[in-house]
Amino acid sequence: MLRLPIPEQLVSDLNLAAEKILSFDSAVRIFSHHDADGIAAGSILAKALVREERKFHLSIVSGISDEVIQWISKEKDRLVVFLDMGSGDIEALDSLGPEIIILDHHQPMDYSGTALEINSHRYGIDGTREASGSTMAFLLSLTMNSGNSNLAHLSLAGSTGDRQHVGGFRGINAKIAETGEKEGLLISRKGLNLRNVPLRRALSASYDPFVKGLSGREKEVEKLLEDLKIDGEKRASELYEDEEKRLGSILLLRLLKQGCRSDIVDELISKKYLVPSLNIYVSEIADYMDASAKKDSGVAVSMAMGDESSLYKAKELAEEYGEVVLKALLTLEKNRAKEMENIQWFWSYESEVASAQAGIGMQYLLNQEKPAFCLTETNDGKIKISARGTKYLISKGLNLTEVCRAASKVGGKGGGHDIASGCSIPAKKKKEFLEIADEIVGKQLKK
Ligand code: C5P
Ligand code: ZN
Repeated sequence: MLRLPIPEQLVSDLNLAAEKILSFDSAVRIFSHHDADGIAAGSILAKALVREERKFHLSIVSGISDEVIQWISKEKDRLVVFLDMGSGDIEALDSLGPEIIILDHHQPMDYSGTALEINSHRYGIDGTREASGSTMAFLLSLTMNSGNSNLAHLSLAGSTGDRQHVGGFRGINAKIAETGEKEGLLISRKGLNLRNVPLRRALSASYDPFVKGLSGREKEVEKLLEDLKIDGEKRASELYEDEEKRLGSILLLRLLKQGCRSDIVDELISKKYLVPSLNIYVSEIADYMDASAKKDSGVAVSMAMGDESSLYKAKELAEEYGEVVLKALLTLEKNRAKEMENIQWFWSYESEVASAQAGIGMQYLLNQEKPAFCLTETNDGKIKISARGTKYLISKGLNLTEVCRAASKVGGKGGGHDIASGCSIPAKKKKEFLEIADEIVGKQLKK
């Protein structure tokens, strides 16, 4: 039974999906996305099915590739569930044969076929800011069994991976956090948004926030801590109130000076959720899932499902991932982006962290008046692009879903959210696509 306030039509569609999945005789085939949100969504559904003693086969994929399509076409009598993806390819999936269930939060297309598409946007729930793929999977798991409420931390960790925590959880996510707290599954605490490690490391290794002159600069961090008379071995949560205030105001000033917008600066002091049963923060789970998703999705899923040795491995992967993200941001700080009239773009040389480099770079380093397009060359003659905006640009009319969908004009494919989208284009169409993007963004921002 669902105790969360959600639209009736959504309750009824979730019931239908739960019924179809739980009554399916053989293994349900699940595809989920290879980022923190997809890992969380996949792990939630996997955990719920294990608890019901149902068979399933979960694959973590980067998208609905030709290979995925081919596989599905061959398995006509299967039930296939897509998590955190599917809405953008629904027409193609619908005609393949197997019964399809989609739980997604990306901008849906016009569609009236037979697939059961449970996309938050279709029920008036803002899938960009208030519900992620993991939120949708969590709602489905609760529909199957209310005992799955203890997976709330995974739901929120997935949403955190999709940056829906910025400015505080909202809508259905906020309700999940509130209910989790009431049930004793989560404990919230407001404090400096730094990792739970000694401050000298938390500051010098911090990439989100990326603080110019401190992130990646150990000596400057030492000097700052010395000047503030703060012990670098302390963690942010161990600081006295006056120490936290002193450090907080310095970081805040630095972020303002480097041009960050107020909603990002406000994140410096934010609410964090501790999962007492695991003694780990939701944001840490998100980081671990994010880092291990692309490197070893098996580790990411096992960790999310509660395996201790995978947690240890995921922590290691997160350390390595953090170092690469930091390096990519320091490179971006040095090289900057190339500016066109309405957009800015840059090459990423650290392809495995391009999404993070684009998103964090947009918030802490780049021109705040233009969306950023981060380009990575792939070895199949294509360019993968991560496009990122800010809340401010969205308020001025930016919609990156529309821009990335225009990749189809140059033989590419794309989609996503208004504030964060992606696409893939033939390498030789780079100039043409950037000009199209520049023109569309120009129109959007001048409306
Ligand atoms: O790859 P990246 O992290 O930049 O993707 C940003 C968003 O755009 C994600 O939500 C992803 O699912 C979506 N996307 C998409 N189609 C693509 C590439 C990305 O819908 N071809
Ligand atoms: Zn997502």
